[in-house]
Amino acid sequence: MCGIIGYIGKKHPKDVLLSGLKNLEYRGYDSAGIALINNKTTQIIKSVGKISSLEDKINNSDLIDSKIGIAHTRWATHGVPDEINAHPHKVGKITIVHNGIIENASFLKNKLIKEGVCFNSETDTEVIAALINKYYKGNMVDALNKTIKDIKGSYALGILCDDEPDMLYAVRCESPLILGVGDNEYFITSDIGAIINYTNKYVLLGANEIVSISKNGYRVEKDGKEINRDINISSLNNESSSLMGYDHYMIKEIMEEPVLVNNIIKKYINNMDKLVDLKKYKHIHIVGCGSAYYAGMIGKNFFEEDGLDVQIDVASEYRYRNIKYSKNTLVIVISQSGETADTIAAMRLANSKKVDTLAIVNVDDSTIARECTYKILIEAGREVAVATTKAYILQVLILSLLSYKLNPSEEYKKDLLELPVKLKILLDKTGIHKKMADKIYRKKDVFFIGRKIDYAICMEGSLKLKEISYIHSEAYQAGELKHGTISLINKGTVVVAVITDNDIRDKTISNLEEVISRGAKPIYIGNERVKYKSKIIIPKIHKKLQPLLVVPSLQLISYFVAFKKGCNIDKPKNLAKSVTVE
Ligand code: AGP
Repeated sequence: MCGIIGYIGKKHPKDVLLSGLKNLEYRGYDSAGIALINNKTTQIIKSVGKISSLEDKINNSDLIDSKIGIAHTRWATHGVPDEINAHPHKVGKITIVHNGIIENASFLKNKLIKEGVCFNSETDTEVIAALINKYYKGNMVDALNKTIKDIKGSYALGILCDDEPDMLYAVRCESPLILGVGDNEYFITSDIGAIINYTNKYVLLGANEIVSISKNGYRVEKDGKEINRDINISSLNNESSSLMGYDHYMIKEIMEEPVLVNNIIKKYINNMDKLVDLKKYKHIHIVGCGSAYYAGMIGKNFFEEDGLDVQIDVASEYRYRNIKYSKNTLVIVISQSGETADTIAAMRLANSKKVDTLAIVNVDDSTIARECTYKILIEAGREVAVATTKAYILQVLILSLLSYKLNPSEEYKKDLLELPVKLKILLDKTGIHKKMADKIYRKKDVFFIGRKIDYAICMEGSLKLKEISYIHSEAYQAGELKHGTISLINKGTVVVAVITDNDIRDKTISNLEEVISRGAKPIYIGNERVKYKSKIIIPKIHKKLQPLLVVPSLQLISYFVAFKKGCNIDKPKNLAKSVTVE
């Protein structure tokens, strides 16, 4: 899930490409590169690591005079993160950047080697460049059509050709890629956010539609036929791309939660008819990946309480299961980016069986938002930090509102209106959260325990800590610990117990006592006063809203732990914000 960007217009591409790459860095940041072209030459500059090191290299290079360029930031799939494997890749006359995975790359590579082609890198991308170069006989669209017939997998490509120094080409299949339409200038990019400072006008490209772009305009075609595509206007603004004075996007996005929660409440509290009515469904399947899946686990607790038959699965498993869909089934697809490959496949499985699908998604016009039967936008605005926070909270809020619609109650409605203020007050208590972080940041292992909905909350709390602080953390059903894992509890092991569900409070308390008696240091997160020294008392609220106060608290603790450890909070190692490959 790399990030790609391209520019053609009246400006020198350097600044557009660099600011675009910085906005795309959430998609992968182990190496990067740019390519510039003019009627004499194609100049390629690549570097390992963050965009800042590429920027230094570019600023110390003599750049050719150019009006056309492509660029890339990488999340390695084929080949280690080094300068040779970094993009762009050039073979013969063809220079390309690529986002995706070519599944038959090694077969094609061996064939090309037999035909005398030499390869420098370990990447599948260089194979595509070699194929285009093989087929290019002066007509790029023809060469691309032949190439996409040979390759299998996912791709978004930006292409330059030495023989056509005034043209930029692009094509996609599975991986996201849009065409940005500016004032006598054009862009290609993985995400509109990368060019929102230049234009909010964009064109969506269908699978294998080839776009040929010159400084005077563009042509979209498929199988030799021109296609007229509408120009869309993005609702994104460039404010969401700035830190607004915060140290990191993660803390900024956590602190945005009260206002965003309030916006959604105001939107739906008197317009519940705008939300899908789950009453007509007997069976609910919930699919997602990572935090989206954990948000789904909270939803499962809500809907089971409402008497629905609910199953949940991670999308990477769900897509390969042999699922028998009973009548009246709804598949709820949860995704912040709307471009997660496994979740898209799970959605398409249900669509292919003519089963209704409901997308709970942040990015409008994303693949999932476009292809589901119904969609509910969570309106989180752009989420830049790789570790999701505000999007997760708004996904859970929508699930809670869907459950409230099934079983309306005045008590829920009253508590719903108080939620934004209670959340703001809790998040302003940074002191107590820093205190809890102090107890965790030196630890190698941390355990989270809870039961039922508290266990689902623990799953997200544990993931947040793991992904930004690199502390090994596991969440467990509190009753399950004594069946083995409790052997890992030693003197001083931190165990975070989440206890908000009064029906099973005592059970979880006794599980906490079991680990304390083996030397564990408890941290209690709950809505009742307790004797434990290390604790955060969460304001009480309707149980279908309680996770919306507990998880922000766990997000804040994780943030302060990573902060104390000096971690790269917004771009944790080995991660990417939108996982567009399988
Ligand atoms: C969460 O912090 C991670 N970024 C990751 O687990 C994420 O939730 C997962 O990749 C799903 O992404 P999506 O919501 O964009 O589909």
